[in-house]
Amino acid sequence: MKNLLNRAKKLFTPALNFHTDIVVKKAQGLHVESTTGKRYMDFSSGLATTNIGHCPPLVIKAVKKQLDEIIHSGCIFRYESEVVFAEKLKEILPNGLDMFFFSNSGAEAVEGAIKLARFYTKRQGIIAYTGAFHGRTFGALSLTASTAKYRKDYHPLLPSIFRAPYPYCYRCFLGHSRDTCSLDCFEYLKRMLRHEINPEEAAAIIIEPVLGEGGYAVPPKEYLVEIRKLCKKHGIMLIFDEVQTGFGRTGKWFASEHFNITPDIMTIAKGIASGFPLSAVISTKKIMSKWHQGAHGTTFGGNPVSCAAGIATIETIQKNELLKNAETVGRHALIRLQDMKRKYSVIGDVRGLGLMMGIEFVNKDGSPNTNFCKKVCKRCEKNGLVLIECGIDKNIIRFMPPLITTKKQMEKALKIFENALS
Ligand SMILES: Cc1ncc(COP(=O)(O)O)c(C=O)c1O
Repeated sequence: MKNLLNRAKKLFTPALNFHTDIVVKKAQGLHVESTTGKRYMDFSSGLATTNIGHCPPLVIKAVKKQLDEIIHSGCIFRYESEVVFAEKLKEILPNGLDMFFFSNSGAEAVEGAIKLARFYTKRQGIIAYTGAFHGRTFGALSLTASTAKYRKDYHPLLPSIFRAPYPYCYRCFLGHSRDTCSLDCFEYLKRMLRHEINPEEAAAIIIEPVLGEGGYAVPPKEYLVEIRKLCKKHGIMLIFDEVQTGFGRTGKWFASEHFNITPDIMTIAKGIASGFPLSAVISTKKIMSKWHQGAHGTTFGGNPVSCAAGIATIETIQKNELLKNAETVGRHALIRLQDMKRKYSVIGDVRGLGLMMGIEFVNKDGSPNTNFCKKVCKRCEKNGLVLIECGIDKNIIRFMPPLITTKKQMEKALKIFENALS
């Protein structure tokens, strides 16, 4: 452990952005203990991944059992954990999403989803959003536009990607407020389909049903309803990237349930296996079965151990009614944060669903207050609460504790947070 931080800094590229300098000794549930003996509440959930807390007991048990049976298959052998995990996913997914391709990371799932959309429709165009984050591999990066920094020096990216404004109401790209909103962003999208790309050349519209890295913004339901109708009308695949919003984060298994919308293709990753690498491209039998043998593939995807972890993750959420907990504790926190907004003018907006909440800091003139956000994160960390930021100006805190967080723990965190504000 000696000088681990310095040793790490000498070995790993600075391209990796570590949010803290905490060196972990042990992590359990909501808590992380550092090598200096300090205990933190982890409200980052390992980037929205340890949704049922660190080192969850049922996952550890299932993984240990799986390790004694088979660790790797590489698409040579069939094994139980992969099939059972898919069956369990089918039970919790919106009706009709019933066929799978397992891979390892969110970006890999996004690559698979856009390949599937192009393959199935035999079209090229893909519509993605300003503020979107879909990953860092070339295809996924071509869709990502949370900041130009991520794209700098990597051009040319994938061609035939078209950019629509995300319905981020607090900072509406078209200058409206929630009161004056007439869904002009949807009109803009429709106009794109006349000026920039013919609908019959569009393979997919890919959207995060709640904007993640781009600002933790909840879109108006009507917007998603309209794009669902539009996609159906023109045979465009609607892809929901639920990598961050999925697996209970918003108080439902998937954010799409809040809007009563079933996409044609869904991508999931992060929380699905409690930290073991696993992701999935999910679609209907009709679409997926057109993807003939060899059209896509993987060596590690659907790893037996990760799938065992995935099964135990679903069982833990069900057994402990964690969706209900996320909804209840999330609602309580949102009310408390909205109270703080009334009290502290530095908070411009508070929004969220379940345990996916964003707190946007502003200056007096309403411009993003990056500095304050940074200071609040630092102060909270000092007082034992790990929070991370998001948004192009890094002025938004993402409040995303694990779904196991109790009301009492949430209160403790809110007190640390308010203390930092004042
Ligand atoms: C919505 C969304 N899609 C895709 C990704 C990429 O996932 P990964 O980092 O596992 O490749 C992320 C990661 O933050 C994400 O939030």
